Amino acid sequence: MTTASVGSPLTTDGDRARLPDSLFRQLVAVRRDLHEHPELSFHEERTASVLEIALSAVSVRDVRRVGRTGLVARIAGRERGAPVVALRGDIDALPIQELTGLPFASRTPGVMHACGHDVHSAWALGAAALLAERPADGDVLVVFQPAEETGEGAAAVLSTGVLDDVRAIFGAHVDRRFTVGQVVAQAGPLAASADNFEIQLIGRGAHGARPHESADPIVGLAALVSALQTIVSRRVNPAVPAVVTVGMISAGTAPNVIPDRAVLQGTLRATDDATRTALREGLRDIATHVAAAHGLEARVTMGTGVPPVVNSDDAARWAANAAAAVLGAESIVPLGTPNMAAEDFAFYLQRMPGCFLRVGARRPGEPVIAAHSPQFDVAEEAIGVGALVLAESARHASAALRGGHGA
Ligand code: NI
Repeated sequence: MTTASVGSPLTTDGDRARLPDSLFRQLVAVRRDLHEHPELSFHEERTASVLEIALSAVSVRDVRRVGRTGLVARIAGRERGAPVVALRGDIDALPIQELTGLPFASRTPGVMHACGHDVHSAWALGAAALLAERPADGDVLVVFQPAEETGEGAAAVLSTGVLDDVRAIFGAHVDRRFTVGQVVAQAGPLAASADNFEIQLIGRGAHGARPHESADPIVGLAALVSALQTIVSRRVNPAVPAVVTVGMISAGTAPNVIPDRAVLQGTLRATDDATRTALREGLRDIATHVAAAHGLEARVTMGTGVPPVVNSDDAARWAANAAAAVLGAESIVPLGTPNMAAEDFAFYLQRMPGCFLRVGARRPGEPVIAAHSPQFDVAEEAIGVGALVLAESARHASAALRGGHGA
């Protein structure tokens, strides 16, 4: 549990990584307000209003709505025409009943900021304030993105064209595997693709006592669930991350009736496009043939979800240099293994180079509580880290793209 006190942003490392106390208090107040009033994807009306007022309070007034319930703030750079970069914070909450017991716990039943997007909103606001105070070479667009949890928000923002001139983009996620002050800023895969699928097995129903007259989709389904696991274990290089999960199955209406169809649904995860394609093809192939072996027809519906997050070399270097500048080089830690959860920041990275960072959000000694848990909470000192690192990443990227220092 987070204590209710508002301490200084970071207690370590002298004056290298500090926000002004007054700004830090403002950001914590906004974070707690958003935490208390969480809103689901594409319903972030109040959230957007709170952020708009808070932006104005830190002298950022060039703000407009984008992507239905999002905002984009433009912070003027020092030089007209210098390369434009973007920062992104996501703002939506999850359909989870909060169980933290925090004094500022959600007042909305069944809705909770269980993924830290309240903190992301606050640090994006902080980065905007810092850039207004000390601008980058070029303009910086700070995107407060709606609907990350449904994987729709980034695409909604991109479709408006508001980021068409942007040369690099940075975003970050709180991560309780790491302690406050630790930052992951590295090139390559960071998060996985997520493609949902549904397989309908169509058979022939019969009396439960006369199975020879049926084509039993339940027996076929049982075989298929096991067979799908061989995609990862036998078709994918074991050194490459991949996931096939069946999360829902449904069939039948009575114990003594063989139904005529069964349905299973699940999700595929990969960190590179070739593996993503192999999973999709393997699923279709195995579903078709296992179904045929049981006298069934397989109807496969494959969604195209969020692609993998793959950070570019340049942007990762700029972000790492920025983090080292504000926190010290020892703050940069390796990711270890990629997170197989998905993150719709990936859509930005399909259009422009960028870097998605992980920002440590646990105090030493605290337990690791996974995101999307009803107990999830974040050490608020992370807000200061995120704001400082994102603002400095924008400055480094803008300078490097212009051909100056910072690369
Ligand atoms: Ni999240």
